[in-house]
Amino acid sequence: MNTSPEHDRLSNEKSSKKLTVGVIGCGYWGPNLIRNFNNLADCRLKAVCDREESRRRHMLSLYPGVEAVDDADKLFQDPEIDAIVVAAPVRFHHPLAKAALLAGKHVLIEKPMASSSAECEELIRLADERGLTLMVGHTFIYSESVLKIAQIVNSGDIGEIRYINSQRLNLGLFQKDINVAWDLAPHDLSIILHILGESPTTVNCQGNAHITPGIEDVTNISLSFGPRRFATIQSSWLEPRKVRQMTIVGTKRMIVYDDLQPTEKIRVYDVRVDRPPHYDTFGEFQYSYHYGDSYIPHLQHSEPLKVQCQHFLDCINKGTRPMTCGRRGLELVRILEASSASLKAKGAPIAFSQRTDSGEAWQEGKRASNSPAQV
Ligand SMILES: NC(=O)c1ccc[n+]([C@@H]2O[C@H](COP(=O)([O-])OP(=O)(O)OC[C@H]3O[C@@H](n4cnc5c(N)ncnc54)[C@H](O)[C@@H]3O)[C@@H](O)[C@H]2O)c1
Repeated sequence: MNTSPEHDRLSNEKSSKKLTVGVIGCGYWGPNLIRNFNNLADCRLKAVCDREESRRRHMLSLYPGVEAVDDADKLFQDPEIDAIVVAAPVRFHHPLAKAALLAGKHVLIEKPMASSSAECEELIRLADERGLTLMVGHTFIYSESVLKIAQIVNSGDIGEIRYINSQRLNLGLFQKDINVAWDLAPHDLSIILHILGESPTTVNCQGNAHITPGIEDVTNISLSFGPRRFATIQSSWLEPRKVRQMTIVGTKRMIVYDDLQPTEKIRVYDVRVDRPPHYDTFGEFQYSYHYGDSYIPHLQHSEPLKVQCQHFLDCINKGTRPMTCGRRGLELVRILEASSASLKAKGAPIAFSQRTDSGEAWQEGKRASNSPAQV
């Protein structure tokens, strides 16, 4: 084994190459990715792409040193570009990511990964065959709050999880190609699967399309995870108030995560209800309500999207699998497909296919030694 300083210098250089990035889609979300890649030290944002001239002009006014093109092919054909970020609407994720992978580029795709599991599978295969990094933008997995909740749960502090309830509600933004479950629930699903580290056994979903025919603007997804463990996700574009709340109920303690709180996002409640182990008469029967102190874990302040973008660059440089790799994106799309099938079947439960790699992707992510570095 070569351990000379020159060898170390060369391998360090190789593992921290300054990567060149191009971003497709400069609408609502793309500019956040563009800002982050432009600010990260170990990358160069070379070009952005949008079909809309007004969006390109706006990006040029903010980043005059960056190229702005109207056709993504120009990015795929640019030999200087190492990595492509896809922030276009969901129906374009697969064609754009596929073309990028075929051109030999690493790819970061926004959530949800694609419009179907078949599309996700093809992207995973193409990336694997070419040894390219494929990552999905499940941003919340890179937030201090979610990492802290996972840490508390894994430490056993709250006991066994009984259920998780999540609400992501606001007025709009109405999407044209996907319903509210495909738009908002990927965030809750990614958080819940990361915390539980397993895939559901059944999925059912109810909902209604009040504004755009055929596109549900209010949905309620229920997920069963083995015996006596479930999660519910309520998503809406028809709420007067913005709500981002998750409750995780354990046998020993409970956590409330409110992402809209500026600082105190997580609160751990030392409350539980126990049944007496045995009793002979109804008079002896009493629930035991336990009320202890609640506490607010300290969180470092870092922008989750910045951590996500840095993690993408690190995974390319080190050749490691991202926490939110293509297989995680695929698992999530499979659940969304099951929710659509259940909606069609008027809320009937859909058995979620237990593939051998189901759940493994989430366990792998939790075990990943290449956890994101805080930046
Ligand atoms: N991670 C998050 O928290 C988060 C938040 C919001 C949106 N998103 C995701 O980001 C993606 C974009 O959402 P958005 O709200 O910004 O959409 P948007 O409609 O506001 O913007 C999309 C932009 O892409 C451009 N575009 C479309 N097709 C193109 C193509 N083939 N080539 C070049 N440009 C093209 C459009 O002109 C538009 O400017 C979606 O996948 C969405 O789910 C993620």
